[in-house]
Amino acid sequence: MKQKIAPRCAVVLISGRGSNLEAIVEAIDKQALPLRISAVISNRPDAAGLTYAQHAGLKTHVVDHTHYADRAAFDAALARLIDFYSPDVVVLAGFMRMLTPEFVNHYLGRLVNIHPSLLPAYKGLKTHERALHDKAKVHGASVHFVTPDLDGGPVLMQVRVPVQPNDTPQSLAARVLAAEHRLYPAALALIAAGRVEFAADGLRVDNAPLAAPVDLPYTVEDASIHTE
Ligand code: GRF
Repeated sequence: MKQKIAPRCAVVLISGRGSNLEAIVEAIDKQALPLRISAVISNRPDAAGLTYAQHAGLKTHVVDHTHYADRAAFDAALARLIDFYSPDVVVLAGFMRMLTPEFVNHYLGRLVNIHPSLLPAYKGLKTHERALHDKAKVHGASVHFVTPDLDGGPVLMQVRVPVQPNDTPQSLAARVLAAEHRLYPAALALIAAGRVEFAADGLRVDNAPLAAPVDLPYTVEDASIHTE
């Protein structure tokens, strides 16, 4: 007899548009991602992603960082709410707040983020502008486990996006974002299947040390995104 495996449960943190959240929900709906989203939490009450989440029938919360005296107080309130759901994984999907080491360490090994660059290149903000300024030929996105080292945690999966000669920060950002929408569900699917282990010396996938991030192939769908 086949044993039914309960989907793992996730809490998703957003701050804005929520297009990665949308991609994750679509992958779940298509049964490409065995995950259940217990709640979506935004630090901004006006995040467009909250409206999407409500329409998708997801439980939503706002923990407005402007209502807290400092970062530690905000992170503590956020963690209390997250822990109410006992998630297997906490998914940062465009969550634009720096997190305290206390928060990060509390979720170490089950806190993941998507970053619009091929980490370790271009940590921080304005990644597309910086890649174009450097005349990079290849840019991309990474899904990584979060550690107290900002954008420095071990990378699970990346997608490489070729830079076009006439790219602007906007056109490059649009193509990277399209690729992100395949990358995050694919990386979460590995995690949800229980195939990824976070260890002090790096990640293991299927019990073998991950020497380099898993490379998600770039596809024609990603390339055909236009910003005009
Ligand atoms: C994405 O580019 C993601 O890589 C970065 O923030 C952006 C979020 O976009 N961390 P969205 O809110 O998911 O549309």
